[in-house]
Amino acid sequence: VGHIDDVQELRKKKSSKIPERFIRDKTERPKLNNSINLTQFDNIPIIDFSKLFKGSKDECCSEVHKLMTSCEEWGFFQVINHGIDLELLERIEKVAMEFFMMPIEEKQKYPMIPGTVQGYGQAFVFSEEQKLDWCNMFALGLEPHYQRNLKLWPTKPYDFSETLEIYSKEVRKLCKNLLKYIAISLGLNENIFEEMFGVAVQAVRMNYYPPCPRPDLVLGLSPHSDGSALTILQQGKGNTFGLQILKNNKWIQVQPIPGALVINIGDTIEVLTNGRYKSVEHRAVTHKEKDRLSIVTFYAPSYDIELGPIQELVNDKNPCKYRRYNHGEYSKHYVTNKLEGKKTLEFAKFKTD
Ligand code: SIN
Ligand code: FE2
Repeated sequence: VGHIDDVQELRKKKSSKIPERFIRDKTERPKLNNSINLTQFDNIPIIDFSKLFKGSKDECCSEVHKLMTSCEEWGFFQVINHGIDLELLERIEKVAMEFFMMPIEEKQKYPMIPGTVQGYGQAFVFSEEQKLDWCNMFALGLEPHYQRNLKLWPTKPYDFSETLEIYSKEVRKLCKNLLKYIAISLGLNENIFEEMFGVAVQAVRMNYYPPCPRPDLVLGLSPHSDGSALTILQQGKGNTFGLQILKNNKWIQVQPIPGALVINIGDTIEVLTNGRYKSVEHRAVTHKEKDRLSIVTFYAPSYDIELGPIQELVNDKNPCKYRRYNHGEYSKHYVTNKLEGKKTLEFAKFKTD
């Protein structure tokens, strides 16, 4: 993806013509009705994290139950009172925006490295025929430290790296705590994931969607499920709609709640729970006048871990759905294929032929 396919540069040209490579086949185009029906999103689960952590026994129990049904029926929820300072959320958003607003020459000092999800540009693009997303990405590996490619850590804005460092520590804590309560909600030992994951891999991806003159023809981000165990997604403050999740074959808008964080169950939890908790298929759409930012943290097991369904969750009623595999191989498979619904999860299925 060079200069000509950079959506922010396209935007500057003020042309209403969308380049062919961004125009989706009819079947893939988003149906955008301007009068969004409120019932489309008013029942997306919201978990009050403070009730899990410091609520009374009853409050905690009912919140754990809500967590369970959210993971089973949605693979998706928002958390409020998550314990991360709202000022820190604002700061990471500010440096991310400042990064995207720099001239392209500055951003291209950190080019996306092909076959990985690190650097600036578009990831998951493997052929000339493939449609492009109306999005610019900037992605970095964070943990363990060998994941860091320091050449890609920007020197501008000057407080970018420092802010990201503080942010990622806080998000890591939240991931660990969420996994604890997810284990509890499954009736498992609360440390099962922590013990299984080794030194967990953590990465961040910032997505910037400029306004698009024809949101009806393009996608901000192709439909996919995440390969992670958990994904923590921060939508920019004052954000517009853009994130959509697939439920019962319908795309549902996710309402941005100021200060809340969005949690996606990733493929890894779907495999570990033998399909009881489902990874959520999601995508992003664009807006005619408004831009949008999302800051996305992926949390996953160490690459040397072999994983498969947890024994306690496999029984006669729920026979084993996934094979055992190496998580590093799965991650490699994920980042070297285009985003296409839940297709990458096929990797974890038993071969039937
Ligand atoms: C993502 O799935 O990584 C981002 C979706 C969004 O921008 O909300
Ligand atoms: Fe995602």
